[in-house]
Amino acid sequence: MEKSRPPRLSVPRAVLFDAYGTLFDVYSVGLLAEQLFPTQGQALAALWRDKQIEYTRLVTTSNDGAHYQPFWDLTQAGLRYACKRLKLELTPEAEQRLMNQYRHLSAFPENREVLQALRQRGIVTGILSNGDPQMLGIAIRSAGLDGLLDHVISVDSVRKYKTHPAAYALGEQATGLRASDIVFVSSNSWDALAATWFGYQTLWVNRYQLPFEELQTQPSRIGQTLTDVLAFFQNDR
Ligand code: LAC
Repeated sequence: MEKSRPPRLSVPRAVLFDAYGTLFDVYSVGLLAEQLFPTQGQALAALWRDKQIEYTRLVTTSNDGAHYQPFWDLTQAGLRYACKRLKLELTPEAEQRLMNQYRHLSAFPENREVLQALRQRGIVTGILSNGDPQMLGIAIRSAGLDGLLDHVISVDSVRKYKTHPAAYALGEQATGLRASDIVFVSSNSWDALAATWFGYQTLWVNRYQLPFEELQTQPSRIGQTLTDVLAFFQNDR
């Protein structure tokens, strides 16, 4: 559902998607978490996600990146912290099961159709994610998105997580296009905001009816599912 429309946008030539939270449902681990820790599944999934993202910022902004660790390791660290914080005993078996579930997150149902529609229109498609290449490879295969993505871009090559500009610049480098000719799609409001600041056209997929960030910048468009990205390519835009 479109809510904002800047005056003039060029028709984009590529669409880059955030992965975790946007193509893959990070809260789908909540079901397993609930089995392992009854009544605490949702709280664990939410705190785990928050901590994982906090750690990406911590290692990117401290000591010129000297403490960088791949996203998989930060995800594991976030899980360990969240369990301690919620006073849940994380056995090695439970950790292995939760991390394994994270490797094979559910994909949102409209993904394939949207990627196919974009490719039919000749639009370049890709992922630009904090995830490390191995994680992304497995998630893409599990979700059956093989062959629908021209680029799978991991920030691991610059060892700086979003929202560092070096991370967003990878999208321009991989496609050979300017950010203003690319739509960046994210369900994470902070990611949609920072990508807008970087210069991308942006779609914020607001799956959970949340407010957007209060920092005086709006994404190019706001939608409810990935399907709303197709609005960028309609003639009456
Ligand atoms: C990603 C995180 C931010 O995939 O969800 O980059």
